[in-house]
Amino acid sequence: QMLKEGSDLNYMERQLVQKLPVNQVKVVPGDADQSKEVKQLLGKEAATLLIDSFKEESVVTVTGGSTMAAVADHMQPVDQTRPLFVPARGGLGDLHEYQANSICVKMADNANGQYRLLYVPDSIGEELHAKMQEEPSILEVLDLMNQADFVIHGIGDALTMAKRRKTSESTFEKIVENNAVGESFGYYFDKNGKTVHRVNSIGLSLDQLKGKSQFITVAGGYSKRDAISAYLKWGESDVLVIDEAIARHLLQ
Ligand code: BG6
Repeated sequence: QMLKEGSDLNYMERQLVQKLPVNQVKVVPGDADQSKEVKQLLGKEAATLLIDSFKEESVVTVTGGSTMAAVADHMQPVDQTRPLFVPARGGLGDLHEYQANSICVKMADNANGQYRLLYVPDSIGEELHAKMQEEPSILEVLDLMNQADFVIHGIGDALTMAKRRKTSESTFEKIVENNAVGESFGYYFDKNGKTVHRVNSIGLSLDQLKGKSQFITVAGGYSKRDAISAYLKWGESDVLVIDEAIARHLLQ
């Protein structure tokens, strides 16, 4: 049976901050796999945390996904700030409404801010890819995303994401054979936090941002339990926004 009391959630948040390599944890009640409202709650909490930290002209780098779409739903204008939203990566083969570009536009609209987008087609050859990275208009966006004050992102279950992106058979096999459990920013990683595959796409340089930007991680749903545990070994997170199903799992 799920806990509902706010004080119990607060207790879990305090325990998790002590246990995990993060500065802040926010837990919403329920399991995002079971109800769409829980995903909206995640979005609302994350949007509120972000809005409360905005400074003048903050730069926010965002990934795609349905969870980030929920964050965008709850984004609001903040007086005296004109946040700028940039996508963390070019196309990753996701559904249009879940692409980082689409999320950026929605966030900027709702926050009364601005956006810059990355127009990079999916799965182009490596040579063309390298060429595009020299394009001044693309370089400008890359520069912006690598100066981000905030990085707000989702985490996916590896196989769910590989299927959703209609990954080629050979890549899918590679992901399965190497026991990938999680995905974020187009990287697939195993339970020990080792990268097993990276989608060939232009985007932010994670290493450059680590320790500089504030990373806000937003993910929920029991089916993502291994992905989220693995992300905490693989990636960076300052603020973790999760649901109760994940919080309970992480406390075990
Ligand atoms: C993708 C992001 O678009 O969405 C990933 O690039 C993330 O970083 C994934 O893991 C999560 O999707 P969802 O729909 O489960 O929020």
